[in-house]
Amino acid sequence: MCGIVGYVGGRPCRDLLIAGLEKLEYRGYDSAGLSLLEDGRIESVRAVGNLSNLRAAVADTEDRGAVAVAEAEATIGLAHTRWATHGRVTEENAHPHSDEEGEVHIVLNGIVENHSELRRELITEGHEFSSETDAEIVAHLIEKHYDGDLTGAVRDAFAELRGHYAFVAMHVEHPGTLVGARNECPLVLGIGEGETFLASAIPAFLKETRDVMRIDNGEIVTIDADGAIVTSADGEPRDRETEHVTWDEDEAERGGYSTFMLKEIHEQPDAVAETITDRLPELDAIDLSELELTPEEVRDLNRIIIVACGTSYHAGLVGRYAIETWARISVEMDVASEYRYRDPVVGPGDLVIGITQSGETADTLAAMRLARERGAHVLAITNVMGSQATQDADSVLFTRAGLEIGVAATKTFTSQVAAIYLLAGWLAQSRGTIEPDRMAELIAEMKALPRKIDETTDALDPQVKAIARSHYQGRFFFYLGRHIGLPICLEGALKMKEISYIPSDAYAAGEMKHGPIALLDETTPVVVVATESPVLEKVLSNMAEVRARGADVIAIATEGSVDVAETADQTLFVPRTDWILQPILAVIPLQLLAYHTARCLGLNVDQPRNLAKTVTVE
Ligand code: AGP
Repeated sequence: MCGIVGYVGGRPCRDLLIAGLEKLEYRGYDSAGLSLLEDGRIESVRAVGNLSNLRAAVADTEDRGAVAVAEAEATIGLAHTRWATHGRVTEENAHPHSDEEGEVHIVLNGIVENHSELRRELITEGHEFSSETDAEIVAHLIEKHYDGDLTGAVRDAFAELRGHYAFVAMHVEHPGTLVGARNECPLVLGIGEGETFLASAIPAFLKETRDVMRIDNGEIVTIDADGAIVTSADGEPRDRETEHVTWDEDEAERGGYSTFMLKEIHEQPDAVAETITDRLPELDAIDLSELELTPEEVRDLNRIIIVACGTSYHAGLVGRYAIETWARISVEMDVASEYRYRDPVVGPGDLVIGITQSGETADTLAAMRLARERGAHVLAITNVMGSQATQDADSVLFTRAGLEIGVAATKTFTSQVAAIYLLAGWLAQSRGTIEPDRMAELIAEMKALPRKIDETTDALDPQVKAIARSHYQGRFFFYLGRHIGLPICLEGALKMKEISYIPSDAYAAGEMKHGPIALLDETTPVVVVATESPVLEKVLSNMAEVRARGADVIAIATEGSVDVAETADQTLFVPRTDWILQPILAVIPLQLLAYHTARCLGLNVDQPRNLAKTVTVE
């Protein structure tokens, strides 16, 4: 999740733009840049690393004679912080990007799904690219359509793009105008006296103005110093109110949410969408050409081993069910801190998948290195470009959740599950173990997940809050599930433990009668993941067993599951999707249950006691 800031007005804006970027640092980034337009020319400065590097590069421009930047008199400009998704972390790949002549400059947040095909077309038309990014496409497309009308050119470019993005464009011939466009990713305006800001989030300009105008999906906005004109994708004028925001700066960084964890729970639709968008370019095929693995090598694989820690391990467990069910290849699982000391039997012909959002967890890195030394192909699933895991792997599959500040992983978990669904489908596709119709069905369901995650969060939050209020004094939470529901129980129990400090345990429901059932009485809330699956009937009988001991059963069920609702005390319904994909929805109410329980106890959910976001120690 990159950060965008744009300004047009009466004040010199270089430092205003950099100050805006500083307010977006919480979004995480690996490089930054800005472009300023003055005296009929646009100049850019970009730098890898944090904003002090950009400040140093700006200060250095004087020696390089970049007047506009050095003199800082320009009153129109664009700026950007990059969280790399397409193209390495380099100065060339940092934004702003421009066309060959440097007449059009753009900054973009999100992903252009059809960037490869557009790049091919533009190259055949003579365009030359200077970066590896998907975003640069937009500058060339606007240049291609430009005939003096910047808004028109942006509209025509917008019509050719597919994906999940928002961008802002500046043209050398329009020293008083910026044009922005939004497709899913956020874009907001700050309306000031004789000046207008454009940004991906309100904190970027909150110190300058509290009058905010929101841009809706599929809209294009043209701004100048006096205000904004909002139109639809086909040019229809759109009326838009300005609202006055009263947030303090901390609240603004949390996007108006009371904590980073709640903000990140609500960012899951975007995180999953950005993780899957351009890997599903076709209706019936998955594109993981970014992996250093060929379909031939996949067909010759003996087995797969997944190693990880904590929440990432639970994502791996979901992956095991998907891979074994779709690709029909055996998957072994182990927590990395055990695997690395197990002297494991591993070698050529094995695929070892290390899952680590930070890419820096010591045990997972050591397990990956061990497997690689013994000749296995190592694939890392990670959220951080340039992290150690990307060095210790032969292939890397990036999740695209953006920076996660809350210690309790939420959006990185659902992004990992989305990534491992892609991998499982691609392995099945490469091994020919799935019919094309079935693949098309699954891909359609995957593409619908971001919307269903959004619906689930909004629909269940108030219900879960009420359940938390009636159970937060519980002395012990029990989670029960079977098959692909079990990893979600483990994740729910981990969240409850790490942020509410309430002892919690997750158990394979079939194991209950072999001992743990002794723990149950009317004071023990039992959370059961009972979404559609081949073993739902078994889960229903386990729920009856539990209720017979007086425990309060809270069930997570697939919409329309009457039997579950009749068996449980309270039922939280999630939208229907393919049964293997249900876990990515079922985890949402469990994240919310832990969150609201901890809030009822007045605990600091963003920074729980005794926990670090990344465990780099042995
Ligand atoms: C999850 O909420 C915890 N923060 C923790 O279990 C985490 O998942 C674990 O430390 C693994 O981190 P990684 O994904 O960065 O390797």
